Amino acid sequence: MVAANEKIGRLCRIVGPVVVVEGMGGARIGDVARVGESRLIAEIIRLEGDQATLQVYEDTVGLRVGEPAISTGEPLMAELGPGLLAGIFDGLGRSLPEIQRQAGHFIPKGAMVPTLRRDTRWEFAPAVKEGEEVAPGDVLGTVAETTHLTHKVLVPPGVQGIVAEIRQGVFTVEETVARIVTKDGHDPVAIRLMQRWPVRQGRPCLQKLSPSTPLITGQRVIDTFFPIAKGGTAVIPGGFGTGKTVMEQALAKRTEVQIVVYVGCGERGNEMTEVLAEFPCLVDPYAGVPLMDRTILIANTSNMPVAAREASIYTGLSIAEYYRDMGFDVALLADSTSRWGEALREVAGRLEEMPGEEGYPAYLGSRLAGFYERAGRVVCLGKKRRQGSVTIIGAVSPPGGDFSEPMTQSSLRAAGTFWALDVGLARRRHFHAIHWMTSYSLYDVGHWFETEVAPDWQAQARLAMSLLQKEEELFEIVQLVGSEALPDAEKAMLQVGRLLREDFLQQSAFDPADAFCFPPKQAWMLRAILTYYHGLMDALGKGIPLSEVASLPILGEIARMKEIRRENAEREIAALVNRCFETLKAKTVMES
Ligand SMILES: Nc1ncnc2c1ncn2[C@@H]1O[C@H](COP(=O)(O)OP(=O)(O)O)[C@@H](O)[C@H]1O
Ligand SMILES: [Mg+2]
Repeated sequence: MVAANEKIGRLCRIVGPVVVVEGMGGARIGDVARVGESRLIAEIIRLEGDQATLQVYEDTVGLRVGEPAISTGEPLMAELGPGLLAGIFDGLGRSLPEIQRQAGHFIPKGAMVPTLRRDTRWEFAPAVKEGEEVAPGDVLGTVAETTHLTHKVLVPPGVQGIVAEIRQGVFTVEETVARIVTKDGHDPVAIRLMQRWPVRQGRPCLQKLSPSTPLITGQRVIDTFFPIAKGGTAVIPGGFGTGKTVMEQALAKRTEVQIVVYVGCGERGNEMTEVLAEFPCLVDPYAGVPLMDRTILIANTSNMPVAAREASIYTGLSIAEYYRDMGFDVALLADSTSRWGEALREVAGRLEEMPGEEGYPAYLGSRLAGFYERAGRVVCLGKKRRQGSVTIIGAVSPPGGDFSEPMTQSSLRAAGTFWALDVGLARRRHFHAIHWMTSYSLYDVGHWFETEVAPDWQAQARLAMSLLQKEEELFEIVQLVGSEALPDAEKAMLQVGRLLREDFLQQSAFDPADAFCFPPKQAWMLRAILTYYHGLMDALGKGIPLSEVASLPILGEIARMKEIRRENAEREIAALVNRCFETLKAKTVMES
């Protein structure tokens, strides 16, 4: 059967992932089409009269001119409902374990594998009664999706009316759990546990709020110096081997959110395999449940079709917004957005479009801005006031680590935080290789840290940053004249700069004691180093030589702060701060 807006055409040209089809007059841009005998999934990206140009999301090898193409009359959709959590999907939202079960390791062309399992039955608990009036975003009922997470089944956008029927019991995602009679007199709308959503369209909310609370990452260089807000955006640009993937994965494991959507976009498949092997063994540091229970993985690795990278980004985003609408904090992590950019470039090249900078399409900037704009902290639709957020953190892989290239530049214009990974730091094994001189955050969340963590949070961070800047200036002089020629005060600066870099900024993602550093511990660690700094400066001010005051035992203790366990951190570091203060004071008094 052919639906009203389905069109059937014939393939007349095939250029890599791009194909041209004749006889598609009346189809719509953005609609999905099935191409060729194997019914490859494609999207219409250009229409000229009768001719449609399509980007094909699957491998086009073997496709022949003359084969049919059918537009489905519907845009690319995501399936949303219980069962997404702990799921692993390809860029088109097809469940990878399910594909593997049906077909082994290779995705058969045109495979219609759904996102959500059709045979799982979920216990649905209604939250409304028959006869109640409901509007988009209202909670119709709930499903315990995991032991910890209650999935809210919401009235979908665009549906408003009276609940004519609501059922309690156990249902598959396709079964009707409620019917809503709308005012327009049409048949009642059947509500299922599953709904579909056009991925390129942002899901509506009541209001966007300005991001004001930080998203705790447990990474010192981020939380203390370049924080990101819940509902904010960040880019992680960095050359090969600077730590983008380690950083994205560290955030996936330890960021303070309820849901993580991790999109592996065009990167090596073995990195995704590592995630698949490691994540199921880990525990969610906040809820204490298996980490996978809060995670959704979307894998469109480098060996998978290029055009589907774009689909993977938008599918991930739609899933993130879906959980946001239930009132959760969600993080969307994309590694690497550059591979998506390259896919855009490849498709644009095949279309013989007028190229923009470095061959990227002229709309690269607006496409990226549109992506990052879907982040945000929002008041969700629905009667009962709820807030949710989607935070987007995208890795960018500039060739040769050159940040002036178009992907990095367009991304930094669209995002609020810029964590610049530095090749030099990575070479010296300073990780995270976020460079403090080139990174920035536009989020004003210092006040939150001052009220919730430490009143001197911002003052400490500012002082530490100024010392790091001072150290950077001194390095230039040292290169010319050597450090021996410097006066004691400047030697002391260099010493403190090194403490800040080695004992505070550097943080191993692989050391279980240090991989996560909660904010109070961050504040105490910085306090210890700054106490040492003030002690040195006091002593030098009284004319005591640096060699007399620089205290080796204290330096050793400062270096070991990272190992202190979370529950002992405040007590032990507070004691160290005291010892540090007393030791330097004693030396100062003794010498003067
Ligand atoms: N925070 C970190 N702690 C320890 N080692 C790190 C850290 N970040 C990166 N590395 C090291 O750098 C290597 C390359 O990192 P990776 O994230 O794969 O780089 P990229 O994705 O930027 O190419 C890792 O295998 C690891 O050895
Ligand atoms: Mg990587």
